[in-house]
Amino acid sequence: MAPPGLSSHSILTGSGAAASGLPVLGAGEQVSQFQEVTVNNPNVVWQKPVVSRAMREQRNGHRAVTLWFTGLSGAGKSTLSHALEERLFSMGCNTFVFDGDNIRHGLCKDLGFSEHDRTENIRRIGEVAKLANAAGTIALTAFISPFRRDRDLVRASMPEGDFIEVYVKCSLEDCEQRDVKGLYKKARAGQIPDFTGISSPYEAPENPEVIIETAKQGIEESVDLLVAFCRARGIVA
Ligand code: ADX
Repeated sequence: MAPPGLSSHSILTGSGAAASGLPVLGAGEQVSQFQEVTVNNPNVVWQKPVVSRAMREQRNGHRAVTLWFTGLSGAGKSTLSHALEERLFSMGCNTFVFDGDNIRHGLCKDLGFSEHDRTENIRRIGEVAKLANAAGTIALTAFISPFRRDRDLVRASMPEGDFIEVYVKCSLEDCEQRDVKGLYKKARAGQIPDFTGISSPYEAPENPEVIIETAKQGIEESVDLLVAFCRARGIVA
């Protein structure tokens, strides 16, 4: 039986489910082929890398996947993704956290919080996560990513098994009570337009690989659960 919070379906059908110990290799080839077919300009030709993702994964001793944390602002996405990264890093994994607030200081600083801009934000992060995976790195992304369609598009753009949706579940009431950044108070006062949960929707995942309920589960327990998931999937040894 799957540990609490984990979808048994995901574990049993995961591409690395049968593997125990060493990572499943060969996904790098899938990435190359996949990107080749998505090029839509005939004058832009895919350059096949000499050092493949598979070679990087083999040397790293783990698979490169994307752990996509989604949830309301204040749900605990950043805290959890950084804590998981710390654990994976200490296990010798190549990791990187892409955090919503930080990415909006640079790569996505031209974007706001309209539906259109959030969609573009998530599209860009999906592409960046794929590059990180191609570089052999486990990408941990912490974005509200409120629209199911946007998350599903990122999932569909990746080879099967690369996109692992982690729903950081926390009620609006709890997030609002925490209000770590004081943003909910401002949003309630009408000072922040299109604020997720208040004046802009959040569409919870329907079938995420993992659910973490941050009001009920501690950080260490949640990290243990996520590492167990990665082991069950053959992502890490
Ligand atoms: S997303 O919707 O496009 O995925 P993203 O994760 O990048 O959002 O950024 C969310 C962070 O921006 C929040 O944690 C919060 O600190 C800040 N923020 C500023 N304005 C808003 C808003 N209108 N809605 C949600 N978050 C906002």
